[in-house]
Amino acid sequence: MASSPVIVILMGPPGAGKGTQAKRLAERLGVPHVASGDIFRWHVRQDTELGRLAKPYMDRGDLVPDDVTIAMVIDRLRQPDCAHGALLDGFPRTVPQAQALDERLAEFGWCVGLVPFIRVNEEVLIRRLAGRWICRKCGAVYHSEFRPPSRPGVCDVCGGPLYQREDDKPETAKRRLQVYFERTLPVLVYYERQGLLVEIDGEQDIDEVHQALWRAVVMAVGTPATAEA
Ligand code: AP5
Repeated sequence: MASSPVIVILMGPPGAGKGTQAKRLAERLGVPHVASGDIFRWHVRQDTELGRLAKPYMDRGDLVPDDVTIAMVIDRLRQPDCAHGALLDGFPRTVPQAQALDERLAEFGWCVGLVPFIRVNEEVLIRRLAGRWICRKCGAVYHSEFRPPSRPGVCDVCGGPLYQREDDKPETAKRRLQVYFERTLPVLVYYERQGLLVEIDGEQDIDEVHQALWRAVVMAVGTPATAEA
């Protein structure tokens, strides 16, 4: 059994299924799911200073500047619930973010254990973003075609109302994909050079993707001490 903190970074383009997989994988690993996009959306909803700064970038499909993003995620990783590690989703997305993360983890005496990259082709990504619905209360993710809720507009898990993200509108979604190819692909190269990148076929069904991710994690870091029995 591994006892050192587990840091897993889930990577993939917008719509690849990071959020869908991260919730379940983090639960099974027994570590928190740290999603930079979710933290930004929380700040936007609360109308904080950070939310007001991030909103115009998010609305355009651009990245929020590195300095504020790095500070926000590192601050999250310092919280007590991350003492045994974390599953990162949406961060890092630029090479400077990846370098800053490595530096901070080294200060804690930690390192990245694995970077699974969920690969999905562009046509499928656009369909997934266009049909995505999210629960306003618990954050569960649905798809009108691939994973419909039992009752349209209502969350199966908590009964909360479902909504569609503003940045999933076709023009903004296309911009997000363009930004991903320009700014985030170099991060994959960064981790590939460190021997940490593992490619997962994201076009399988949701359970198969989960099983492939779990096998990759166990192979790389062993069964974490925090994992579910
Ligand atoms: P963020 O929230 O991180 O969005 P993203 O990376 O664009 O990823 P998504 O949430 O769109 O997709 P996902 O991969 O989680 O897919 P999902 O599981 O929902 O970022 C939003 C914005 O915040 C950014 O644009 C930026 O402005 C800012 N930001 C965030 N982090 C930042 C950073 N580090 N630096 C700077 N700025 C940052 O799945 C999609 C759909 O497909 C769902 O409907 C789901 O049900 C369905 N689905 C999933 N898997 C499958 C499957 N296997 N088969 C069929 N359907 C599936």
